[in-house]
Amino acid sequence: MNKAVILGTGSCLPKRAFTNVDLEQIVDTTDEWITSRTGIRNRHIAGENELNFQLASTAAKRALASAGVNPSELDLIIVATISPHMIMPSTACFVQAELGAVNAFAYDINAACAGFTYGLDMASNYIQNRPDMKILLIGAETLSARVNWEDRNTCVIFGDGAGAVVIGGSDDGRGIFGASMHADGRLWELLYMDSPKSLNPDLQQANWQGSFIQMNGRDIFKHAVRLMEEAVTTLMKKHSVTIDDVSLLIPHQANIRILNNLKDRLKIPDEKVFINLSKYGNTSAASIPIALDEANKQGRLVPGEIVLLCTFGGGLTWGSLLMRW
Ligand code: UT7
Repeated sequence: MNKAVILGTGSCLPKRAFTNVDLEQIVDTTDEWITSRTGIRNRHIAGENELNFQLASTAAKRALASAGVNPSELDLIIVATISPHMIMPSTACFVQAELGAVNAFAYDINAACAGFTYGLDMASNYIQNRPDMKILLIGAETLSARVNWEDRNTCVIFGDGAGAVVIGGSDDGRGIFGASMHADGRLWELLYMDSPKSLNPDLQQANWQGSFIQMNGRDIFKHAVRLMEEAVTTLMKKHSVTIDDVSLLIPHQANIRILNNLKDRLKIPDEKVFINLSKYGNTSAASIPIALDEANKQGRLVPGEIVLLCTFGGGLTWGSLLMRW
């Protein structure tokens, strides 16, 4: 049976690095607090000519080159993002134009930090129906434009960047063989970002607080650990996979304490967990594809071996996915 395989990976980080020491200059925090509570030491911040779609397009060009696929061969472009530079058209349409991918239809998805993994599940379903499709899936964020730089609870965590993969069909036993995606909209207030204020007086919200990210960090932390563990454990059981069978776990890069907790609960050794959080912070939908690209370049993704992804974000949204690389 045909399954969706990743044919190539790419990523793009903005040029400007912004360290914890830089943050000490603008908000009441310390390098020591950020490092010990989050594991983050640095993040990248988008500047001129680094709009969301521009980072996404550069990551996409690198993924296409690594896959040996021409933009004209693409049938579909999906961008997972919660920080587009415009609401309409979609970031995916800007990427399509930038690449000259004239044969692709294109749209964005919003599932916060879980967006890329949701997108992989969607791509996998497309491929099962049409194995000849070539799909470009990107996770791209410029959250630096969406955080309140006076709110130390959020501005120290997030970073900008983009990661991309090219997906095609294969019948050689490799590919995505399991996914479990979840949401619980009842808990939306734990992590949200309001819409821009309407200019229509009839639609203006009375208590509008601004369209910055608002987060209840402690509650998000607790839910993230429990729900990711549940999703991973249930998925592995369903597909008769044990943690010993997994060669690499690539989790959403949110907080080192969340990841350490998850590692302990899953009883997975350190060397089987890919972590690059200290360099980039939490890049939301971009975090897993950036990590995938780095793992690929480091030769840590071995054909035929099992890779496990898990993710968690605002919505709430979360999920887990299994593939044979
Ligand atoms: O992608 C998914 C989205 N988000 C997440 O995964 C985030 C999950 N949550 C977290 O990562 C953590 O909850 C945070 C890193 C956001 C916060 O860490 P915490 O250990 O949960 O801290 P806290 O919110 O319980 O705050 C402890 C103290 C507070 O001071 P008091 O009330 O004890 O005096 C905060 O005001 O730390 C203070 N604090 C800070 N101090 C220095 C909060 N942020 C900072 C800061 N620098 N940046």
